[in-house]
Amino acid sequence: MTQTSLLGAAATPRLGILLSGRGSNFLALHEAIERGKLSARIALVVSNKSDAPGLEAARRRGLPTLARSHRGMSREDHDADVVGALRAANIDWVCLAGYMRILSPVFVDAFPHRIVNIHPSLLPAFPGLHAQQQAWDHGVLLAGATVHLVDHGLDSGPIVAQAAVPTSDLSSGDELAARILVEEHRLYPAAMQRLLTEPWRIDGRRLEFETPGARKVEPRG
Ligand code: GRF
Repeated sequence: MTQTSLLGAAATPRLGILLSGRGSNFLALHEAIERGKLSARIALVVSNKSDAPGLEAARRRGLPTLARSHRGMSREDHDADVVGALRAANIDWVCLAGYMRILSPVFVDAFPHRIVNIHPSLLPAFPGLHAQQQAWDHGVLLAGATVHLVDHGLDSGPIVAQAAVPTSDLSSGDELAARILVEEHRLYPAAMQRLLTEPWRIDGRRLEFETPGARKVEPRG
């Protein structure tokens, strides 16, 4: 399947942020927008946790926020509720930023190739929870972070960008998580900016950027 970006769309893309916790990646995206490094606007910040520090940080910055608890609801009903709120806010792109919920098809199919996640490992290694500790326990020499589009699997969608960090001078999974987080805050805004401003297509499970004017490498004769 092939899908291309919205390059040339006139309006500033409207991001919906979903978070469940401290929201440092949300803040990195917000700061990139404020500094003119990310051509987008955060139109809604949603959390399934009303006491998420990231939600409070969004409120303090004057951004529209919404708390929608998932308690007592089926995954599909909760997702439909959140999708409805995102649609009402005319959201173009959904950025998951520490949203501790697996999205049902109700959600994924509502924004095809328009949901982005950041995961603290070099996918496809170490999907799921506690990825940094998984990597540390495994003894990898290179760990890192991945920005990817969300599909129906767990941390399995097309890769947009990755950053690697060395581990050999570290002494715990917590130290590794801190090192990866620094890269996450750089990687997520940069990857979003590329998605929003460069042409790209999906080919199989590969996401290919097709920057205009880029010279093709001629095969050797
Ligand atoms: C980050 O490590 C991110 O990679 C993962 O969840 C964590 C969220 O952290 N998906 P924060 O809430 O953005 O600080």
